[in-house]
Amino acid sequence: MVAIFDSHAHYNDERFDCDRDVLLNKMNKNGVCGIINVGVDIKTSFECIELTEKYPFIWAAVGIYPHNSIYTEDDYLESLKKMLEHKKVVAIGEIGLDYHYDESPRELQKKFFEEQLALATQYDIPVIIHSREAFSDTLSLLSKYRPKGVVHCFSGSQEIMNEVIKLNMYIGLGGSVTFKNAKHPLMVAKSVPLKNLLLETDCPYMAPVPFRGKRCDSSMISYTANKIAELKGMDINELLSITSENVYNLFSKIKN
Ligand code: NI
Repeated sequence: MVAIFDSHAHYNDERFDCDRDVLLNKMNKNGVCGIINVGVDIKTSFECIELTEKYPFIWAAVGIYPHNSIYTEDDYLESLKKMLEHKKVVAIGEIGLDYHYDESPRELQKKFFEEQLALATQYDIPVIIHSREAFSDTLSLLSKYRPKGVVHCFSGSQEIMNEVIKLNMYIGLGGSVTFKNAKHPLMVAKSVPLKNLLLETDCPYMAPVPFRGKRCDSSMISYTANKIAELKGMDINELLSITSENVYNLFSKIKN
């Protein structure tokens, strides 16, 4: 099978504390050629950078997740700017809006999202977007700043997918396409143009069937890819090689 690139993972998560190095040392053998490890606040963004320094096949995204804006210091942009100078920091993320849980006030989420979108435009670096039950506000801010990037773990309808594609952005799909109750992800997987598709795990979360509910890792992308290839009526190796190529196109700081 062609090598897998996982465009969204969280290996700094405590669920990997017991065997992180053992697991990551096996990645290449398990067919994984690259991973973007994604931060959710300043502390985890630093942890992502540490992982990139330890593993040649890991790159980092740094940023403040919508719910974490509530405890983030006012001078966070200065910290992010310093991190962006690192050669293996390839994106700002994950950033966005989440109206499913109101752990941070929506106005504060929007403020952090806008500031980080502006930063991405200033540094000409892609963004990794988290958007949950907030597509209308997310799309209007993306239209305003027009960053390069991906809407990760995409949960929207086909209509919203079309809006994202019109902005020349990518759709990130993961384990949810294998879930029995997945209506939107299935339709999106079927209809998303290959040139706009990225594969991801969001591990340790979102393990695909038959591992649903268990701890996920990047090697499980093959189950997600298998399902998408089946829906699209195409060969899984072709799908994996196109989506890996998409990663290199979007995250241009990664050297192929
Ligand atoms: Ni994530």
